[in-house]
Amino acid sequence: METTDLVALAQQASENAYVPYSQFPIGAAVVPKSGEVFQGCNIENISFGLSNCGERTAIFKAVSEGHRELEKIAVYGSTNEPVSPCGACRQVMAEFFEPSAKVILISKNGKTVEMTVEELLPYSFTDLT
Ligand code: THU
Repeated sequence: METTDLVALAQQASENAYVPYSQFPIGAAVVPKSGEVFQGCNIENISFGLSNCGERTAIFKAVSEGHRELEKIAVYGSTNEPVSPCGACRQVMAEFFEPSAKVILISKNGKTVEMTVEELLPYSFTDLT
């Protein structure tokens, strides 16, 4: 999957965002190593802490369909600067992507930043021993 196609799918996913409290739609599109694409958006709740980010919606959709090895993710925000994933989403990325996996962050005017999972979350919690 080309990065430009993944970016378009992330933007499209943001159209389904349920954001009555923040008015801050986020869309994500994730490609597992198997190649299929999963899209996700943020879904808020009147009990604010129950809200789920777009990144985690997309990742959890992929994992719940049996795809545990993820390759690449694009995240779109209608922001001025490329959106910066929250800490919880970075830790969830660290669980299912290689440290060197690409994370493509996009703003509303198409400004793009590419980072790796490890750059987003160095020295992540990965070892229970
Ligand atoms: N949000 C995401 O979905 N992804 C991010 O990377 C940052 C924040 C959501 C959570 C909440 O629905 C809204 O954006 C405002 O924080």
